[in-house]
Amino acid sequence: MSAVASGSAVALRIRDLTTVFRSRHGVVRAVDGVTLDVRKGEMLGIVGESGSGKSMLCLSIMRLVPGPAGRIEAGSIELGDVDLLQLKESDMRAYRGRRIAVILQDPLMSLNPVYSVGNQMGETLRIVHPSIPRKERLLRAVNLLRSVRIPEPEDRLKAFPHQLSGGMRQRVCAAIALSGPPEILLADEPTTALDVTTQAEFLRLLRELRDDLGVSIVLVTHDLGIVAQNCDRVAVMYAGRIIEEAPVQRIYTSPAHPYTASLLRSVPSLEADTLGSRLVPVDGSPPDLSQLPGGCRFAARCPLADAHCHEEYPPVAEIDRDHRSACWKPGEVGSLLEAAP
Ligand SMILES: Nc1ncnc2c1ncn2[C@@H]1O[C@H](COP(=O)(O)OP(=O)(O)O)[C@@H](O)[C@H]1O
Ligand SMILES: [Mg+2]
Repeated sequence: MSAVASGSAVALRIRDLTTVFRSRHGVVRAVDGVTLDVRKGEMLGIVGESGSGKSMLCLSIMRLVPGPAGRIEAGSIELGDVDLLQLKESDMRAYRGRRIAVILQDPLMSLNPVYSVGNQMGETLRIVHPSIPRKERLLRAVNLLRSVRIPEPEDRLKAFPHQLSGGMRQRVCAAIALSGPPEILLADEPTTALDVTTQAEFLRLLRELRDDLGVSIVLVTHDLGIVAQNCDRVAVMYAGRIIEEAPVQRIYTSPAHPYTASLLRSVPSLEADTLGSRLVPVDGSPPDLSQLPGGCRFAARCPLADAHCHEEYPPVAEIDRDHRSACWKPGEVGSLLEAAP
């Protein structure tokens, strides 16, 4: 696959990344040969139904796949000229949180209930910047809280997670994630637990961080409205693979994979009022990741599928500049949108 990014520089270069879970019931290929570039200063959306491997992709990038059942089996993840997968765990620790950071869906999972915000921020700063004296760490913590638009940051340092609203907690997580500040910020469904207004505010914050700090943001979501309004590019994930990748406007006007088209059909309109709209999965369900079919993984649900699709996995093809799709019939996908009820 020619995944060489055109235009802007590449911040993170993922090649053939494969992460599997082993159990008595077999081997689950949660991430199965993902090749993807994250460009400098972009907001890249990763979209797909639940169970498609989005979270495992993020955890793989952080090298936080829960072992021993889960394991990164193959591939490379280059940040600059370093392949993160080749680093010793002790060296990886120097990257995690400093050059690459993650915000999770539920801020309560990331925050420790028994420590104050200031304590937790101080601890991260101590790990990420060991040479900074304690006094200056405090100052940095205040500035980080300010950078995520938390009012009266000095007072908030004393607060405990349960004393903050959901939106404020997620801002604290963002502030902690910015301790580096990182070059890459992975945000895995960061707004799913928030109400719609708070969601919109948090997404605006992410856009501002991208613009002000030039940080590359990978925004994982199952909400196409969120992608339309916030992302520069989008990668669609299905059964552990990226099946389509394109600039954001392009994916809505000219999808080149039937799965993408079916996701679009499930969203009534992409105007502002659909923020918060959920992906309604197309008929049927994704394949069992421990018993994957040999051909296209979407074939069983695809209105365009023929015998060939069931037999052979389609190679990733360049549809247009920056637009790639893994489908044998990308030219016929438009007809699916026209046939929308
Ligand atoms: N702890 C685990 N043990 C075994 N399999 C897992 C585990 N976590 C995830 N998986 C498998 O990986 C697949 C992808 O999961 P995930 O990345 O969480 O999907 P998404 O974030 O897109 O909803 C799941 O369908 C599941 O089969
Ligand atoms: Mg997930």
